Amino acid sequence: MEFSIKQGSPEKLKGGCVAVGVFEGGKLSRAGQTLDRACNHLLSDLIAQGDMSGKSATTLLLHKLPGIAAERVLLIGLGKTGEQTEKSRVEILQALFKTLLATPAKDAALYLAEADLGKDAAWLLRQAVFIAAEQAFRADGLKSKPADAVKLKRITFATLDKPAAQLQEVIGQTAATARGMALAKALGNLPGNICTPTYLAAQALALGKTHKKIKVTVLEEKDLRKLGMGAFLSVTRGSEQPAKLITLEYAGADKKQKPVVLVGKGITFDSGGISLKPGAEMDEMKYDMCGAASVLGTLQAVAEMGLKLNVVGIIPSSENLPSGTATKPGDIVTSLSGQTIEILNTDAEGRLVLCDALTYAAKFKPDAVIDIATLTGACVIALGHVASGLFSNDDKLAGEILAASRQAHDRAWQLPLWEDYQPLLDSNFADMQNIGGRAGGTITAACFLARFTKDYRWAHLDIAGTAWKSGKEKGATGRPVPLLTQYLINRAG
Ligand code: BES
Ligand code: MN
Ligand code: ZN
Repeated sequence: MEFSIKQGSPEKLKGGCVAVGVFEGGKLSRAGQTLDRACNHLLSDLIAQGDMSGKSATTLLLHKLPGIAAERVLLIGLGKTGEQTEKSRVEILQALFKTLLATPAKDAALYLAEADLGKDAAWLLRQAVFIAAEQAFRADGLKSKPADAVKLKRITFATLDKPAAQLQEVIGQTAATARGMALAKALGNLPGNICTPTYLAAQALALGKTHKKIKVTVLEEKDLRKLGMGAFLSVTRGSEQPAKLITLEYAGADKKQKPVVLVGKGITFDSGGISLKPGAEMDEMKYDMCGAASVLGTLQAVAEMGLKLNVVGIIPSSENLPSGTATKPGDIVTSLSGQTIEILNTDAEGRLVLCDALTYAAKFKPDAVIDIATLTGACVIALGHVASGLFSNDDKLAGEILAASRQAHDRAWQLPLWEDYQPLLDSNFADMQNIGGRAGGTITAACFLARFTKDYRWAHLDIAGTAWKSGKEKGATGRPVPLLTQYLINRAG
């Protein structure tokens, strides 16, 4: 799908569809009023008759109206003037694209700026692009007869007045972000028998082939042993698939500029290991590599945009399976940092692969490190499926991430990293244990990681509740690619 912005009169725009808003009570938006005059007040007649109430997220599709060049007119209900919320704006855009995608239109012009939805134009455009891409995404690549691809190919954000120059850039950046999300979703949805650590490494290498500014390195288990990554290696012991440590270095600025390092949890299937998970919904643990997928999606977006900054992606990737050689509860391992860990639960494996990757991250002399992980079920209990959990050892960094999260409408909520929680990780036999008990499980997981990130500014995103949807709508969401990409766009300035 292609997106652009263009000034023009709604009645003159040729193409498959022109969409304008109607407020509850029947008032047409400015572009709507222009259309109404062009078709001899047919629109206001229909509204007066009650065919369109203007209630939020309702739609009315009309065909071949006299005096209007486009084949279709889509009226979209905006609700009461001044009463829109972030949620209702999203619902309006979802209804708009749902109706549009059900038509055979190949292109459409949407007058959103005139809709006066009480939110900045950039925010609305970003959401429109994300929602269009979301609805055009197909997850049926492994069905023997995939459904037809969507017909809608070109979307023009049309305006009556000259659009602000900066909006064109916003659209381009958001389209690249949406493609990054699509990559993250496609990888997330792949089953564990296809998406192995080797497969993820191949995807990273392919990204490096496409984008000359990305250098990819893959370390094998023997390299990890040499380095001393005892925590990471303890997770792969039960698996036949070789673990990989994948590094992607995007060079968009001078070598001297310190990079942002993104570390993504890449467990391609998490059975729990010897601390085996219960069977119900265990298939969803194929999504335990969604942190890794978000790093790949973000790096792809950054490379496509050509952002002028340096970004490093690090992906520790492994399966977590039980076997005769698997790590057992009570086993003690030595991490790359030298700290020893008593593994009381082999299902708390994410922090074990991440702690070594986070220690490794220091070698890039980072300005900031952000790790992204489907780390704890407890995060889902705390924040549900709405917000990702955010932790940071630096309030300024947390503030920047939260600002990006609001711009991209990819919600995150900060939780505490207070030292008060640290004693829950004390072990009688090692420097720490890998679990802190049921209470505050998402916080103690973050506190565990904090013991490995003292030398740089660091933030942790727990995406256990936001990376995928369960049930009828099962599928990866591509989050938090929008948040991460927006953060990097803001940094690039
Ligand atoms: N990958 C899981 C976390 C998870 C569970 C994400 C369910 C989304 C849905 C992680 O490796 C895990 O198993 N964590 C344990 C930690 C516990 C043993 C301290 C958990 O959350 O139960
Ligand atoms: Mn686990
Ligand atoms: Zn896991």
